[in-house]
Amino acid sequence: MAPDETVVLVGGGGREHAIARALADDCTLYACASNRNPGVARLADRVELLDETDPEAVVAFAEEVGATLAVVGPEAPLAAGVVDALEDAGVYAFGPRAEQARIETDKAYQRRFMRDHDIPGCPDFETFDDTEAACEYIDAYDGDLAVKPAGLTGGKGVRVTGDQVTKAEAKEYLREADHDRVVLEERLVGEEFTVQAFVADGEFRVSPAVQDHKRAYEGDEGPNTGGMGSYTDAGFLLPFLTDEDFDEATRVVEATVDALDDYRGVLYGQFMLTADGVKVIEFNARFGDPEAMNTLPVLDTPFLDVLTAARDGESLPDLTFAARATVCKYAVPEGYPEDPAGGERVSVDEASVHPAQLFYASVDDRDDGIYTTTSRSFAVVGVAESIAAAEQQAESALAALGDGLRVRHDVGTEALVQRRIDHVAELRSRD
Ligand code: AMP
Ligand code: GLY
Repeated sequence: MAPDETVVLVGGGGREHAIARALADDCTLYACASNRNPGVARLADRVELLDETDPEAVVAFAEEVGATLAVVGPEAPLAAGVVDALEDAGVYAFGPRAEQARIETDKAYQRRFMRDHDIPGCPDFETFDDTEAACEYIDAYDGDLAVKPAGLTGGKGVRVTGDQVTKAEAKEYLREADHDRVVLEERLVGEEFTVQAFVADGEFRVSPAVQDHKRAYEGDEGPNTGGMGSYTDAGFLLPFLTDEDFDEATRVVEATVDALDDYRGVLYGQFMLTADGVKVIEFNARFGDPEAMNTLPVLDTPFLDVLTAARDGESLPDLTFAARATVCKYAVPEGYPEDPAGGERVSVDEASVHPAQLFYASVDDRDDGIYTTTSRSFAVVGVAESIAAAEQQAESALAALGDGLRVRHDVGTEALVQRRIDHVAELRSRD
């Protein structure tokens, strides 16, 4: 295909490497981010180092390279109004404007939005501006709660009582952190899954369900992270999910797309399959990281076709996905997320990873080598006919890469997947 589109990609993480790989063959690709991701750098004609939350800087770069399209990967630039600024400058950006990104960036707004629009799957919740009032509510509430700062926390701000913390610790957390606004909501018990949808002009197309692993350590222990790894099955479902569950999640996406005014970009639904059906944990206004590394490698439809259809006001193409399972495992610095080491040089022999795929994340490509930062470093993704085979492929790739970084080796293993299946069977047997 003639590369007659010039796309600017904003962001430099693993998700953006996956986006770059999905686009690079079909267009001229430029990227801008605050770090130099070596994977993105190899696929792009140029990477500009800039503050990706500075709308003027991103617009200046897009204009300089003559961008005909832009894709914004992370949430921070969305919240900062990068899409608004690109749009004002006449560059179509596949991502929501800041106002629409509030579905992710303001959890209090998000819950009220669900309630006001009767979107199914909303847990009981209350929002608080006053820490002491929130603490009183925790004391008075008969049951466990999820305590959520309303603003962005990189996936690390939530505390769940009866799971990670006691109610006393939750109150202490609130008093110490002193967030402007918090959401307190009923604790949902079940299995989590993600469905990402491409959205434009009131239309949407869903991708296969993914299960991420938020907790830092094996066996789902430790603090929440941005996500340590994730898997998909060779189809749209996960081994514990039925067609009815997936349809229920799709109906939530549909109701949300209908209620949002002219949303465009990726709408990411994070769901909990509970004994009472599918509930919404949260929405994100972008691809998930790591989830993009599961679904984009199996997307057979060119991602560029989705972007051009959205921009040109055409119907979105029907998506086809290869019938392959994927297992993604992140390698992170020791101490991540609470006290990450970072700043260490890593050597990556890319040839040794094959047939798994390697995605660089928050590493910095300097003259004398690749250095870790304080966030996730790189991910390997196995793509095969079954979850078990994809898991093996990812593990072989990690073994070839050597040690020095921490990995949740249990992601995608038969034992952990079976635990999910058994958990859901137990939940379903309750009614
Ligand atoms: P979030 O930042 O909203 O993605 O939340 C981070 C994690 O906190 C989720 O992946 C869940 O594991 C957990 N969580 C959030 N809300 C709830 C809830 N209402 N009940 C139980 N766990 C929750
Ligand atoms: N994997 C969770 C997220 O991207 O927010």
